[in-house]
Amino acid sequence: MTTGVSNEEIHDLSNKLFSSILLEQQKYMAVKGPDEDKKNMNEAVLTEYEQLKGRGFFFNYVSSGKGHGPFTELVDGSVKYDLIGAIGPNLVGHSHPLYIKAHLEAATNDVMMCGNLLTHKEAYNLTKELVDSVKGSRLKHFWFSGSGSFANDTALKMLWQKKDPAHRLIAFEKAFAGRSIATQDITYNPDYRQGQPQTIQVDHVPHFDQNDPENSLENTLNALKELVKKNKDQYCAIMLELIQGEAGFVYGTKEYYEGVFKWAKENNLYIWVDEVQSFARTTELYAFQMFGLEEYVDIVTIGKALQACGTFFTDELNPKPGLVAGTFNGSIASLNAGQKIVHYLKEGNFYGQDGRMKYLEDQFLNRLRVMAKGPLKGKIGYSGGVGTMISFEVGDSTKETTIKFIKKLYDNGILSFMAGKEPTRVRFLLPTCLSDEHIEEIFRIIDKTANEVL
Ligand SMILES: Cc1ncc(COP(=O)(O)O)c(C=O)c1O
Repeated sequence: MTTGVSNEEIHDLSNKLFSSILLEQQKYMAVKGPDEDKKNMNEAVLTEYEQLKGRGFFFNYVSSGKGHGPFTELVDGSVKYDLIGAIGPNLVGHSHPLYIKAHLEAATNDVMMCGNLLTHKEAYNLTKELVDSVKGSRLKHFWFSGSGSFANDTALKMLWQKKDPAHRLIAFEKAFAGRSIATQDITYNPDYRQGQPQTIQVDHVPHFDQNDPENSLENTLNALKELVKKNKDQYCAIMLELIQGEAGFVYGTKEYYEGVFKWAKENNLYIWVDEVQSFARTTELYAFQMFGLEEYVDIVTIGKALQACGTFFTDELNPKPGLVAGTFNGSIASLNAGQKIVHYLKEGNFYGQDGRMKYLEDQFLNRLRVMAKGPLKGKIGYSGGVGTMISFEVGDSTKETTIKFIKKLYDNGILSFMAGKEPTRVRFLLPTCLSDEHIEEIFRIIDKTANEVL
């Protein structure tokens, strides 16, 4: 229970409202086309919105705010499977009881947002839940930020202060770290920073190569050694996603990461892991736990599925007063939801080899691989990923073909997105609430779509 006003009447009404909202939302639980009388509603909103925003949207999609589990309803009355979850946040699915509860409880509070200066119990509860969830590592503190990008900026500032004047950073090829002025330099793709001056000094080394696993560690270490030779004593840290999201779910092995991290420690570099996308989505709550890398990590950033964002750090990296601050921690509803979600994920059967994340991974990858070998040979190629982060290649794996497939998949009732460049992959960020029947239907739609466009 959150803070705010409370009496018997509020309690009863809140419970009734909870049931009514949930029952109403549960009406949106099957794929369907637009309603005849609303069929131009998406365009009606988007045409004007695109003008106001100055830019078009990828999908002809406007949410109606209705939907349940894996389903989302659009303002034109159509209902689709949401297998991208707003690029990550909707891990537990639409109108999850915990979301509804978090909102209703937050409505009893006297403010919308929790700030840094005047704190609320929701921020404390979530921080406690989070710090407890990284026991076994050296991470002892957590600081909220308004976005994943800003959580990364905070991490960088802490590292810079500690290692001043060693301000250079080592990142990885194909990395995506966000859209802030600092993180756009860490992001590998130069298309994302056209016309921008370079503001931080970052050098990129090769990540694990899925096509050359045996030599990956050696290739990465050789590049790292070259860098420290060239720029002696100039680096503060090595920063990486253990599961590279925007790259199409590229990831290494425990041995690979241990090799890289041992080298980093020997070379006096802090290890910063960006889990903004992978948080809660692999077969452990954190990818660094899945790989058994607890002893190495010095700073970890999270966001998306948490419904809030922030930075974990060790005692050693605790910055001097004045370095990090900011008005907002997050909305009361988001912080409240974050705490409930982390608790639910930790207490439920989600992680480990027998958990829900692994089950979904197996269901999707096994089916994609069967299709790729049999009925959709030549149409579906590589498939991979971990937990609820699944990707696969279609046709010639170009951006054009992948977009064509994704748009048709959308018309047929599934929201997905792309990831990676040469090859480009179809990306799913699955919700945990998919039933076996949903999965059957999803694969019927994938099969139909592949036969239509490839
Ligand atoms: C790995 C990673 N880091 C950072 C970010 C940036 O997070 P945000 O969009 O919340 O700023 C993202 C967003 O996609 C991400 O995937």
